[in-house]
Parts: sequence; C-alpha cells; structure tokens
Amino acid sequence: IDPTIDIVAEIQRLKKEKNAVILAHYYQEAEIQDIADYIGDSLGLSQQAAKTDADVIVFAGVHFMAETAKILSPSKKVLLPDLKAGCSLSDSCPPHLFAKFKEQYPDHVVITYVNCTAELKALSDIVCTSSNAVQIVESLPENQKIIFGPDRNLGEYVKKKTGRDLVLWNGACMVHEIFSQDKIVDLREQFPEAKFIAHPECEDHILAQADYIGSTSGMLKFTIEDSAKQYIVATESGILHQMQKASPTKIFIPAPPNNVCACNDCPHMKLNTLEKLYNCLYYERPEVDLPMDVVERARKPIERMLEISE
Ligand code: 13P
Ligand code: SF4
Repeated sequence: IDPTIDIVAEIQRLKKEKNAVILAHYYQEAEIQDIADYIGDSLGLSQQAAKTDADVIVFAGVHFMAETAKILSPSKKVLLPDLKAGCSLSDSCPPHLFAKFKEQYPDHVVITYVNCTAELKALSDIVCTSSNAVQIVESLPENQKIIFGPDRNLGEYVKKKTGRDLVLWNGACMVHEIFSQDKIVDLREQFPEAKFIAHPECEDHILAQADYIGSTSGMLKFTIEDSAKQYIVATESGILHQMQKASPTKIFIPAPPNNVCACNDCPHMKLNTLEKLYNCLYYERPEVDLPMDVVERARKPIERMLEISE
C-alpha cells in the first residue's frame, strides 16, 4: 500500500464506489470497528447480512461468519480480509465426524452453534448463536431429544438454563478456555465493587462466578444499563473498545488468563487488519464462495433460527 494514502478515507471512498457494506464483529481490532457500518454479535451480523441491499459485503470477522453472510445473501459478493481467519471452535467439529456422531442419535433434532462450517450447518435442523441458544432450545417441545454442538461449554450452560438433557459435542473455543478461576477470585478481592461478566463459551467453573452471562452484545448492553463502575470481562478483549466508548467513565478489566504468556485476543479474529480490509475492498478478493447445494442445505437451519429470534 502506498504509505502516503489516507487508508480510512480510501476505504470510505471505495465503499461508496462499489456499494459495499462493512460488517464487523466486536472482536475485531478497534480501527476496524471504527470504520464499520455495523458492529455486532453473531446474531446481529447475520440479521444485517440477510437484509443488506449492498452489492458487496466486507465481513470483518472470521470465515464461518462470512460463510453465513454468503448463505443468506448468495447473490452478493462476500469478502473476508484474511481468508485464513478461521475459528478453533469450528475446527473442533469436522463435518464427517459429526455426521457419524449424529447417526448414533437418529431421533434427535440437531442444533448447531453458528461457530461452525457451512457443511456442519447443512447437517443441522436449527442454528443458534450465544444470544438465542436458550430460546431456540425452549422453542422445541419438552420431550424433543436434542444434539447440541459444537461448543460443549455453551451446551452445558443451555442445559442448566433450560433443564433439558442435551447430547453434547465436545468442542470448545481456545480463547474462552484460558481464564483462571483463582486469578479472577484474586482480582475480585482487589476490586470488590467490580462486577464479573462472562461469555457462555467460558467453562462452567468460570460462569459459576459471573454476575452476568451473555453474548458480546448482551454483555455490552449490560455494562451500559448497569450501575456498577467497574467490570471484569471474560471474553475476547476486542469488546472492551465498545464498552469503553459507550461508558467512558467506567473501568473495564480483561479477565486474567491461566498462563502469563496468554492473552484474551483471538488469533483468528486478529488476523484481519485495516490494510488487509483496504486491499480486499480494492481488489475484491479474497472472496468467500460456497457450492450452491451447501448454500441451499445450510440456509434452512439458519432461516429457522432467524424466524424464532425475530
Ligand atoms: P457472539 O458475538 O455471538 O457472542 O459470539 C462470540 C464469538 O466467539 C464469536 O466468535
Ligand atoms: Fe472462534 Fe473463539 Fe475466535 Fe470466536 S473467539 S472466532 S469462537 S476461536
């Protein structure tokens, strides 16, 4: 990239010229969030992707999110700044193994968390996100047997909230499994006024300590509406940017990880940079595309989710 160009201004110009929209997840770096047309959690982003009238969707997030946008808007060009931006949770559930797993439970409905490949969605009956997982499970009759995957932690949380006995796939997110229970206890002693808020992808013993559990947008809303002045936040650190912007006088502390060398950044989300975003808008690649049959099969369970979440 020419070092003399104003990259933010160029992105704005290209966006207009190409009738493009930038959708960004809360875990993106601050510069990307600040240039996005819409910032949201997985549910909000898929709702935006379904209704946009732009010709090009630049998805500042990870691969499965861009795939979901493509499934919901197959005629649009969907760009991802870095095609290698994957997801450890999605990787923990290869579709061919899940298909075998599913065969053992022929009378079960399959609910998959949106953090999975399009192939996996195509094997599902309903998709869910962290903000509607409880609602989706509760929308089914009480005696309905259910497989829930790929996130074991979210599955355990939904089991507790609904009292349903779900069959769980044993997958997890690398970012939400690093938090240290002991260090959180120590931090709470240091900041006794602080509330502890956590994403349901965290492990059970971490969630057990939380004052609030919710999706990224749920956590953000909570910090805006709640009266506390300090929060310890157990999720990817990108969300702190919006929390701090919305409540400039409050203090937000990232929950401490187990290992001193670890941090709360998602290495996949953070592969995207403003420069890569500019390049992908300029060259209109890398593009996320899917075989039409996968689009058709994966769309139904996503649309079912969107109908239930309206
Ligand atoms: P939400 O933003 O839907 O809570 O998802 C969190 C996440 O881990 C996305 O990768
Ligand atoms: Fe996947 Fe976890 Fe990164 Fe979200 S934070 S994209 S679930 S690895």
